[in-house]
Amino acid sequence: MKELNVQPEAWAPFAEGLKGMFTEPVLLEIAKKYGKTPAQVILRWNVQRGVIVIPKSVHKERMEENLAIWDFNLDKEDMEKIAALDKGCPSMLDTRKISEIKRVYDYLNNPVLTSL
Ligand SMILES: NC(=O)c1ccc[n+]([C@@H]2O[C@H](COP(=O)([O-])OP(=O)(O)OC[C@H]3O[C@@H](n4cnc5c(N)ncnc54)[C@H](OP(=O)(O)O)[C@@H]3O)[C@@H](O)[C@H]2O)c1
Repeated sequence: MKELNVQPEAWAPFAEGLKGMFTEPVLLEIAKKYGKTPAQVILRWNVQRGVIVIPKSVHKERMEENLAIWDFNLDKEDMEKIAALDKGCPSMLDTRKISEIKRVYDYLNNPVLTSL
């Protein structure tokens, strides 16, 4: 993407909150070390990699939490620990799964998708 001058953006950086990211043990441990939350660690990890983040919350306190990511730096070791959580497949809209395709096509009846 860099080579083609394309700016990566994370729409749904929390995988819509559906994949247990906020209770992921490695993220919890790293969050504790910096006095931050797993959500803040997720956002910070992305911005340190040059990825623009577009998180969503309907809660004011979470919006504030998601904005408070500019006063700490994840060190190299923690950046690598988080990178190692990569499952090698999308955390949402995994088009290899028929259930995911059905979920998208059923968007009018799907409370998650219709709330976007
Ligand atoms: N998902 C997509 O494919 C897609 C496509 C196009 C555009 N977008 C846009 O991208 C933005 C983000 O996408 P998204 O809403 O799909 O996914 P997201 O930001 O990855 O996840 C949102 C979920 O995370 C929860 N959350 C947010 N901050 C939190 C925090 N600090 N602690 C704990 N939970 C937290 C939200 O709950 P609460 O709201 O209850 O706090 C909600 O359940 C939205 O503006 C959306 O319209 C998304």
